[in-house]
Amino acid sequence: MVSAAAGATGSVAGQIAKIAGARVVGIAGGPDKCRAVVEDFGFDACLDYRQGDLPAALKQQCPRGVDVYFDNVGGPILDAVLGRLAPKARVVLCGVISSYLTGEHPGPANYVNLLSKTALMQGFNALDQWSRFDEAFAALRQWEADGRLVHRETVMEGIESCVDALNGLFTGANIGKMLVKISEPSG
Ligand SMILES: NC(=O)c1ccc[n+]([C@@H]2O[C@H](COP(=O)([O-])OP(=O)(O)OC[C@H]3O[C@@H](n4cnc5c(N)ncnc54)[C@H](OP(=O)(O)O)[C@@H]3O)[C@@H](O)[C@H]2O)c1
Repeated sequence: MVSAAAGATGSVAGQIAKIAGARVVGIAGGPDKCRAVVEDFGFDACLDYRQGDLPAALKQQCPRGVDVYFDNVGGPILDAVLGRLAPKARVVLCGVISSYLTGEHPGPANYVNLLSKTALMQGFNALDQWSRFDEAFAALRQWEADGRLVHRETVMEGIESCVDALNGLFTGANIGKMLVKISEPSG
C-alpha cells in the first residue's frame, strides 16, 4: 500500500514494490490520479481517498490486511491504513505532507494495531542511504531502460511559477514529479 501514489515518490515506491513481486494498491486524490496510478504506473488498484469511506475501501481491496504500507501523507490516511494492518505488517514513514503546513501532527488513534498485529512502524530518510545512491541509481536506470519503471512530470513554466508549484504539492496539482522549467537547456 502506497499513499500519494500518483506523486513523484509514491509512484516510484509502488513500481519498485511491483518489481519486487508485491501486489500493490495506491491511495490518491481523484479519479484522474487513480487512473494514472493503475494505467501509467502499473499498480494493481488505487483508492480515491477523496471519494467517501477510505476504511471501507481498504477493507474491500485488502480483506486480509495490509502487509507493507509506504506512507507519504500521515494524518487520517495513515490512521485508516493502521486500522487495516495484517499480522507482522511493516509501516514505513516517508513523509507527512498532510500536516507540514500546520506543523501539528495528530497522532494516529489506530496505532494500537501495531500492538495487536505485532507490527513495526519505522521512519525512512533517503539521505541515510547516501552510501547506496550509486547502487540505487543503477537499478532505477536499468528498470527504466527495460520499460519496467516509468515516470511522469508536471512541468510549470518560468521562475515566477515556483511558489505555485510548491503550493501545488499541497493541493495535489501534480501527477509525477513537480518541476519548474526556468529556461531552455543551453547547448
Ligand atoms: N523521507 C524521505 O527521505 C523523503 C524524500 C522525499 C520525499 N519525502 C516525502 O514524500 C512525500 C511526497 O513527496 P513528493 O516530493 O514525492 O511529492 P508528491 O507526492 O509528488 O506530491 C505531493 C502529493 O501529496 C498529496 N497530498 C498533499 N496533501 C495531502 C493530504 N492532506 N492528504 C493526502 N495527500 C496529500 C497530493 O496528492 P493527492 O492529489 O493524491 O492528494 C500531492 O500531489 C512528502 O511527504 C515528502 O516530504 C520523503
